[in-house]
Amino acid sequence: MTVRSGADDERSASDARRSATLPGRFAGRNALVTGAASGIGKATALRLGREGAGVACLDRDAAGLDMTVAALAAAGARAEAIVCDIAKSADVARASGRAIEAVGPIDALANVAGIGDVSGHDGIENLPDDRWQRVLDVNVNGAFYLCRALLPAMAGRGFGAVVNVSSLAGRSKSANANLAYTTSKAALLGLTRHLAFDYGRRGVRVNAICPGGVDTPMIRSAAALAAASPEASAARAKGLAAYQFFMPIQRMSTPDEQAAAILWLLSDDASYVNGVSLDVNGGLYMA
Ligand SMILES: NC(=O)c1ccc[n+]([C@@H]2O[C@H](COP(=O)([O-])OP(=O)(O)OC[C@H]3O[C@@H](n4cnc5c(N)ncnc54)[C@H](O)[C@@H]3O)[C@@H](O)[C@H]2O)c1
Repeated sequence: MTVRSGADDERSASDARRSATLPGRFAGRNALVTGAASGIGKATALRLGREGAGVACLDRDAAGLDMTVAALAAAGARAEAIVCDIAKSADVARASGRAIEAVGPIDALANVAGIGDVSGHDGIENLPDDRWQRVLDVNVNGAFYLCRALLPAMAGRGFGAVVNVSSLAGRSKSANANLAYTTSKAALLGLTRHLAFDYGRRGVRVNAICPGGVDTPMIRSAAALAAASPEASAARAKGLAAYQFFMPIQRMSTPDEQAAAILWLLSDDASYVNGVSLDVNGGLYMA
């Protein structure tokens, strides 16, 4: 499957047109987005800002965050860059406090940051403790720490929405990353449903999206890794051919197409949607 083509440039232009014409669904609201330095998190932060939200942008990548916040400022949005390793409980507690100080009470939380890993592809015995643990620390614990830091205050105000970014891997299995990644993304769906039950009655909706392939640095790094050996490259080509056969929309999504789904779930347009795992994968996985 092609990672980038001329059609992608047209699609980016149409993404920009679509975002530019949306009404201010988030005017007067504040959002916190993790993973805001790159890919889906960056697209989500930019859309939220363009639609009127004040945006606290969290990531461990300070330079990437600065670029996101500069783009938000250029669009006239209130935004703050907060460097944070979401895998660390104390760091998340500090960063959440800083976010509220900088932009105000948080009404919308997008847990987007995540990592992949390929160790253990050739057998569970080759997946060491530290690699397994790191994926779960970032992908599951990070979202848990953020929810714990922000949901009680949302419930106190009787209003809020959360979107956790899971994956097609959480609904089925990962095509690119390892067992730890699949496990972490399935766990996020459990976190989503349990919180949706506990907090729905207190005015806070909690949902997840499950993207398929999205053209971001994460998926490009999987392609680069496969290119390193002829065997890995052949295995990837075989996998992609199977993927493409089952893919009704014959392309990867743009980050902005995922951001659009996140914003819908965070917005009042989805006021009766709670506890869902929304498949945003072009029909690759239908359930
Ligand atoms: N790209 C895909 O094909 C795809 C498919 C399904 C799901 N997803 C999920 O979408 C989310 C976003 O991925 P993306 O494709 O935009 O990737 P990306 O690599 O472009 O962005 C991920 C961001 O998360 C940040 N991050 C990673 N670990 C962090 C940590 N410990 N603390 C703070 N920030 C951290 C990175 O610095 C980066 O800015 C991830 O949760 C990923 O699992 C991606």
